[in-house]
Amino acid sequence: MPKSETILVIGASGQIGTDLVLKLREIYGSSNVIATDLKTPVYEVYEGGPFEVLDVLDKEKVHKIVKHYKVTQVYLLAALLSATAEQNPKFGWNLNMSGLFNVLSLGSEQLVKKIFWPSSIAVFGPTSPKQNCPQHTITEPTTVYGISKLAGEGWCTYFHKKYGVDVRSVRYPGLISHKSQPGGGTTDYAVHIFHHAIKRKAYKCYLEKDTYLPMMYMDDAIQATIQIMQVPSEKVLIRSSYNIASLSFSPEEIYHQIKKQYPDFKISYKPDHRQEYADSWPASIDDSYAKQHWNWDPKYNLEKTTQRMLKQLKTT
Ligand code: NAD
Ligand code: SER
Repeated sequence: MPKSETILVIGASGQIGTDLVLKLREIYGSSNVIATDLKTPVYEVYEGGPFEVLDVLDKEKVHKIVKHYKVTQVYLLAALLSATAEQNPKFGWNLNMSGLFNVLSLGSEQLVKKIFWPSSIAVFGPTSPKQNCPQHTITEPTTVYGISKLAGEGWCTYFHKKYGVDVRSVRYPGLISHKSQPGGGTTDYAVHIFHHAIKRKAYKCYLEKDTYLPMMYMDDAIQATIQIMQVPSEKVLIRSSYNIASLSFSPEEIYHQIKKQYPDFKISYKPDHRQEYADSWPASIDDSYAKQHWNWDPKYNLEKTTQRMLKQLKTT
């Protein structure tokens, strides 16, 4: 296991950053993982190793921190997600694109060895196949978030081909986790529903009961992220972004799973603007390239995810 890395995580206080920093510190050592964000992270991240306030749009400071800590790898997580970006498309586009450019420039100027940047199932749109959506297919996203992710994939491919930047990426589905709240996506309901269940409060869902979306438990997502960053470069044959998948369920299905432990739990449905974004995305994803190229192998099914979420939230 490579331990002589110094890792910068940008956007470390968010849903993925919280879990990712803790895992990376376990692997590479606390002082070798620098968490950065505009906002203060949870106590465990803040106290567990270096933290710096950093705006990814401040290119000079990004470069300064990389040089100061002699950073070798960057994980870029700062972005606006689908629902938030739709409220402010110009800002969403600017943050998602300029942030990526500032980090890719670290690669093209040979200041860092490896970069991770996540894409999303939002690169797909209404004209993409709904079931088992393939890696290579029609991508005509209808959200500003999806447009920014698709453009980002193109820029990653470009920087890899043109400047040899070792940038790696996966298209995350909706992520389910308990350590921090989700940050304004369409799939956030799949986390909120658990918080309501353990507080014994009824949940009003903003998506229709039969809206199927690709989802994943956070431990699997973190595993995919670290795995793709650790495999030898020649295994990463797709430099736009890899489809990864594990779960596909609807609000009604996850509700019934939760009800097995909370029989009195109630749900109602009042779809809002997020229904349209969800309807534009696939229900399930074909991730055979990730499985073939770097042995991606998710561990959590819906039952195990539900049990884990309820257990963890009850103890916090
Ligand atoms: P999040 O909203 O929970 O966290 C993003 C973090 O970035 C926040 O802590 C925020 O304070 C920080 N941030 C915002 N603007 C910043 C700036 N200018 N400089 C520095 N930090 C800034 O998001 P997340 O769910 O952790 O997502 C991380 C990445 O993964 C994003 O690129 C997102 O598009 C992608 N993704 C997430 C999901 C998901 O379900 N969570 C699914 C697909 C893709
Ligand atoms: N979870 C994300 C969102 O809903 C998908 O990229 O925005």
